[in-house]
Amino acid sequence: MEKTMQPLQYSCNNRKIEMPHIPLLSVALVLFLFLASPASSCKEEDSSSLLGFLDGLFRVSGLSTSWQKDTNCCLWEGIICNVDGTVTNISLVSMGLEGHISPSLGNLTGLLKLNLSGNSLSGGLPRELLLSSSITVLDVSFNKLNGEFHELQSTPDSAMKVMNISSNLFTGYFPSTTLESMRNLAALNMSNNSFTGEIPSTICVDKPLFAVLDLSYNQFHGRIPPELGNCSSLAVIKAGQNQLSGTLPAELFNVTSLEHISFPNNHLQGTLAPEHVGKLGDLIILDLGWNRLNGKIPNSIGQLKRLEELHLDNNNMSGELPPALSNCLNLTTITLNDNNFQGDLSHVNFSTLSNLKFLDCRSNKFTGTVPESIYSCSNLIALRLSYNNLHGQLSSGINNLKSLRFLALSHNNFTNITNALQILSKSRTLTLLAIGGNFKHETMPDYDKFYGFENLMCLAINQCSLYGNLPNWLAKLKNLRGLLLDNNKLSGPIPTWINSLDHLFYLDISNNNLTGDIPTTLMEMPALMSTHSDLIILKFPIYLAPFLQYRATSGLPKMLNLGNNKFTGVIPPKVGELQALVTFNLSFNNLHGEIPQSIGSLTNLQVLDLSYNSLTGAIPSALERLHFLSKFNISSNDLEGAVPTGGQFSTFPDSSFSGNPKLCSPTLMHHCASADAAPVSTISTGQYIDKVIFAMAFGMFFGVGVLYDQMVLYRYINFG
Ligand SMILES: *[C@@H]1O[C@H](CO)[C@@H](O)[C@H](O)[C@H]1NC(C)=O
Ligand SMILES: *[C@@H]1O[C@H](CO)[C@@H](O)[C@H](O)[C@H]1NC(C)=O
Ligand SMILES: *[C@@H]1O[C@H](CO)[C@@H](O)[C@H](O)[C@H]1NC(C)=O
Ligand SMILES: *[C@@H]1O[C@H](CO)[C@@H](O)[C@H](O)[C@H]1NC(C)=O
Ligand SMILES: *[C@@H]1O[C@H](CO)[C@@H](O)[C@H](O)[C@H]1NC(C)=O
Ligand SMILES: *[C@@H]1O[C@H](CO)[C@@H](O)[C@H](O)[C@H]1NC(C)=O
Ligand SMILES: *[C@@H]1O[C@H](CO)[C@@H](O)[C@H](O)[C@H]1NC(C)=O
Ligand SMILES: *[C@@H]1O[C@H](CO)[C@@H](O)[C@H](O)[C@H]1NC(C)=O
Ligand SMILES: *[C@@H]1O[C@H](CO)[C@@H](O)[C@H](O)[C@H]1NC(C)=O
Ligand SMILES: *[C@@H]1O[C@H](CO)[C@@H](O)[C@H](O)[C@H]1NC(C)=O
Ligand SMILES: *[C@@H]1O[C@H](CO)[C@@H](O)[C@H](O)[C@H]1NC(C)=O
Repeated sequence: MEKTMQPLQYSCNNRKIEMPHIPLLSVALVLFLFLASPASSCKEEDSSSLLGFLDGLFRVSGLSTSWQKDTNCCLWEGIICNVDGTVTNISLVSMGLEGHISPSLGNLTGLLKLNLSGNSLSGGLPRELLLSSSITVLDVSFNKLNGEFHELQSTPDSAMKVMNISSNLFTGYFPSTTLESMRNLAALNMSNNSFTGEIPSTICVDKPLFAVLDLSYNQFHGRIPPELGNCSSLAVIKAGQNQLSGTLPAELFNVTSLEHISFPNNHLQGTLAPEHVGKLGDLIILDLGWNRLNGKIPNSIGQLKRLEELHLDNNNMSGELPPALSNCLNLTTITLNDNNFQGDLSHVNFSTLSNLKFLDCRSNKFTGTVPESIYSCSNLIALRLSYNNLHGQLSSGINNLKSLRFLALSHNNFTNITNALQILSKSRTLTLLAIGGNFKHETMPDYDKFYGFENLMCLAINQCSLYGNLPNWLAKLKNLRGLLLDNNKLSGPIPTWINSLDHLFYLDISNNNLTGDIPTTLMEMPALMSTHSDLIILKFPIYLAPFLQYRATSGLPKMLNLGNNKFTGVIPPKVGELQALVTFNLSFNNLHGEIPQSIGSLTNLQVLDLSYNSLTGAIPSALERLHFLSKFNISSNDLEGAVPTGGQFSTFPDSSFSGNPKLCSPTLMHHCASADAAPVSTISTGQYIDKVIFAMAFGMFFGVGVLYDQMVLYRYINFG
C-alpha cells in the first residue's frame, strides 16, 4: 500500500513534500494514482545501477526476493520512483545488509535520498555518491564503513543537504576541500567515528544554509575555530567527547541562530564571559560539562529565555549562583555538580523554575540551608545536593515535590534525623534516598506506628555515627533493594524479620556495634537465594546518561556486609542457601566455630572476607569450587591444617591466610611438614582489585540490562 502511495509525493513536485492528511485530498490522489500508475515503470539504466549495488553486497537478507532482474524496480523493496520511473529514493534501513556500497548508485541520476542506516556495510563511501548532483540526503550512519575520506577537488553542483556518516569506522582528516565543495550542505553528522585533526575552519564558507554540525565522539583536537562565527544559520553544534582545547571563541557568541551548543568532555578552558553569553537568546541547550572552565556563571545567563538545559558539571567553576538564573523560566535541567560554586543556593529564586526536573549541585561549596523556593518546583524528579556545606533541618515543604524520585543530601551538616525521616517518609514517589554523612551522633529514630516510603528502593543513612538499634520501621519498606547503614554506632541484634524484605539484595551494616548471633533468617533472604534479578523499572534522570554509558558495566553486587561489628556465635550452615551472593563480609567480629562446608555452594561468590574472627578447624576444600572468587581473606583466625591448592586458591596472596599460626601450605612460610617455623607472612601483593571490577564481572554475568537500574543506585549510594 505504502509503496504505491509514495510515488505521489514526488509526482506533484519533484521534491519531498509532506502530504497533509486530508482525506479528500487522498481520495483525489488515489484516483490520480490509478490513472497514472502505468507510467511509473522502472528505467532500464536505474534498474541496472540498483543491480550493481546488489552485486556489491554479500549478505542481502530479504532483498533478493523482491530485487529481481526484469521486474519493475520501482516496486522493489525500499525503492521509490517518480512518475517517470526514475528512482528518487532508496531506503534500506536496518536490513542486515553486508558488503560494499557500489559506486553504481552514483549513476542514479534522479536519486534524491539514500538512507542505508543501520546495516553492516563496510569499505569506503564511493566518491560517486559525494559527487552526485542529485542526492540531497545521504544517511549511511550505523554501518562499518571505514578508511579515510575522499578529497574532492571540485563538485560544482553538489546537491548534498544532509549528510550523516556517523557511527562508522572512518579515520583520518576530513578533507576541507570536500566540505567546501558542498555548497548546499545544511546538516553534517560525523559523530562517533575516529576522525582526527582540527575542526575545519572553512566549514561554513559559502554555505548559507549550514545549520547542524555534529562532530561528537571523535578525536578532534586543537581549538574551536573562530571562523564558526561566520556560520550565520548554525543552530546545532555538538563536538563533545573530543580533545578540543583553548577557550570558547568570542565569535561563536555572535552566531545568534544557535540553539544547541554541546562541547562536553573536552579540555576547554577559560570563563563564560558575561558580555558573550547573553547574546545567544535562542539557546535551548548549553552543555559544557567535563571541561576545565573556571570563573562564575554570569548574570547575563538570565537573558537566555529559551534555555532548557544547562550542564556545567565537572569543571572548576566558582562563585555564587547568579540570581538571574531564575529568569530562565524554561529550564528543565541544571547540572552544576563537581565544581567550586559557593554561597547560598537561595540567591536563585527557584519558584520561577516551575519546569525544573533535574537539579544537581553535588560536590560544591554551597552553604546555608536548602532554599524553600526549591519546594515550589513541583516537577522536580531528581535533587542532588550532596557533598556541600548545607545545614539546618529539613522542611516539610519538601513534601510539595510530588514527582521527586531521587533525593541525595548526603555529606552536608543537616540535623534532626527524626524530623527528616518523618517528613520524607510521607513521599509516595521517592525511590532513592541518600542522606548519609549528616545527623552526626544523633539517634536512629523508631516509631510505634509507621507508614510511608511506599516506593523506596534504596535507602542510605550511612556514615552518620547514629546511635540506637536497627529500627523496626525498616520492616515496612517492602520495596527496598539496597540498605546502607554502615559506619554508625548502631547496637543490638539483626532483627529476625530481615527476611521479610523480599527484594533486599544489598545490605551494608558494617562498622557498627551490632551484637548477637547471625540470625538464620538472614540466610533466608529471598533476593539472595535466587540468582534471578528482578527488573527494577525506574525512570532515571536522563542527564545521567553519559555517566551511565561510562559506567555501563558496573553494578551493585548482591552483598551482605556485616564486617566490623560485635557478632558472636557461628556462621550458620544455612548460608549455603544464599546462592546469589556475590560479596560476603563477616570480618572483624567475634565469630567462632568452623567455616561451613556449605559456603562452597555459593558459586557466584567473588568476595569472601572472614578475617579477624575466632574461626577454627580446617579450610573446607569445597571452597575450591568457587570459581569466581577473586578476593578471599581468612587472616587472623585460628584455622588449622593445609590450605587447599585447587580452584582459585593458587591466586590468593599469603596475606589472605596470615595470622593463622596453625595453617600450612607450600607457599606459606609455614610449610606443612615443619609445624614449628611459623612466621606470619606480611607480604602484601598489591593484588587489590577494585570494587568496580567485581561489579563489572557481575554485570557481564547477569547482563547489563538488568543492572542498568542497580547501577544508578550504585552511583547514588557510593557517590551520594
Ligand atoms: C555508470 O554508467 C556509465 C554509463 O552508462 C557506465 O559506463 C559506468 O560503468 C557506470 N558506472 C558504474 C559504477 O556502474
Ligand atoms: C534514515 O532512516 C532512519 C530510520 O527510519 C531515520 O531515523 C533517519 O532519520 C533517516 N535519515 C535521514 C537523514 O532522514
Ligand atoms: C543522521 O543525522 C542527520 C542529521 O543530523 C539526522 O537528520 C538523522 O536523523 C540521523 N540519522 C540517524 C539514524 O540518527
Ligand atoms: C547524529 O547521528 C547520531 C547517530 O549516529 C544521532 O544519535 C545524533 O542525534 C545525530 N546528531 C544530530 C545533531 O542529529
Ligand atoms: C557509536 O557507534 C557504535 C557502533 O555503531 C554504536 O554501537 C554506539 O551506540 C554509537 N555510540 C553513540 C554514542 O552513538
Ligand atoms: C560580533 O558582531 C559584532 C556586530 O555584529 C561585531 O562588532 C563584533 O566584532 C563581532 N565579534 C566578533 C568576536 O566577531
Ligand atoms: C580551580 O580554580 C581555582 C580558583 O577558583 C584555582 O585556584 C585552581 O588552581 C583551579 N584548579 C584547576 C585544576 O585548574
Ligand atoms: C520568587 O518568585 C516567586 C514567583 O515568581 C515570587 O512570588 C516571589 O516573590 C519571589 N521571591 C523572591 C524572594 O523574590
Ligand atoms: C554542623 O552543625 C552543628 C549544629 O548546627 C554545628 O555545631 C557544627 O559546627 C556544624 N559542623 C560543621 C562541620 O559545619
Ligand atoms: C527534631 O524534630 C522533631 C520532629 O519534628 C521535633 O519534635 C524536635 O523538636 C526536633 N528537635 C530539635 C532539636 O529541633
Ligand atoms: C570487609 O569489611 C571490613 C569492615 O568494613 C573492611 O575493613 C574490609 O575491607 C571488607 N573486606 C573486603 C574484602 O572488602
